[in-house]
Amino acid sequence: MSRTILIIGIGAGNPEHITVQAINALNRADVLLIPTKGEEKSFLADMRRDICERYLTNGDTRVHDYAVPKRRADGSYDDGVQDWHHAIAKIYEELILEVSTDREVIGLLVWGDPMLYDSTIRIVDHVRANGRVAFDLEVIPGITSIQALCASQQIALNRIGLPVEITTGRRLSAGWPEGVDDVVVMLDGVEAFRSIEDRDAQIYWGAYLGTELEVTLSGRLGDVAEQISETRHQAREKNGWIMDTYLIRRARATESET
Ligand SMILES: C[S@@+](CC[C@H](N)C(=O)[O-])C[C@H]1O[C@@H](n2cnc3c(N)ncnc32)[C@H](O)[C@@H]1O
Repeated sequence: MSRTILIIGIGAGNPEHITVQAINALNRADVLLIPTKGEEKSFLADMRRDICERYLTNGDTRVHDYAVPKRRADGSYDDGVQDWHHAIAKIYEELILEVSTDREVIGLLVWGDPMLYDSTIRIVDHVRANGRVAFDLEVIPGITSIQALCASQQIALNRIGLPVEITTGRRLSAGWPEGVDDVVVMLDGVEAFRSIEDRDAQIYWGAYLGTELEVTLSGRLGDVAEQISETRHQAREKNGWIMDTYLIRRARATESET
């Protein structure tokens, strides 16, 4: 048997959103690697530790923290992200060689699901390409923040037969995407919802979803945008960090196309 890396989706904040497959994967691991750093990251690290405490029954599993390097803010965004991923791949590589043997199972706990705005799979691909560590890979899905949002807001993600686009705040603030009327926005540090011209659109917003800090708001954008903005500021001030996701649904401008 060779070394195995398990990329394990653990849900986006509610420890009960973990799957049976993920719990079994945690307990298969000889080593679990947990990222730390910064106030937001320390909450996320605590959440990962909480999950280990609740579900880890294998007394032999070793848990190792590692510090995530900061992403370079200068230069182009894409270059900064690429360099950052290569730096994290180097850390994985060193750590894996240092803390595991070539027959052990290493678990990486990923927030939400590894396929959604998460680069762990890409970073592990870099480790493989570097050629110093050989391993088999398994990816275990998790509940995403989008699922947590829809559940808390008691809504279906898509309208009947219609598409939904998932994008970032940075992109939405540059303009509404072509061909869709339903947009899920993640990673929004700029409050892109404030720049939407259609004030009659509906917004379904949630922050700290699944955690004890969860707060949700919804309504006509023109009626609730200011309240969401104020709630965000106050919550970030109080907690030192915020993670929020929202769906904006506008009247069907694309109806004639369908
Ligand atoms: C790097 S992405 C990770 C997404 C994650 N892989 C998932 O499946 O949800 C981080 C973004 O996910 C969203 N997010 C993650 N957890 C959240 C939560 N508990 N509440 C609200 N938004 C969350 C926010 O938009 C945040 O900026």
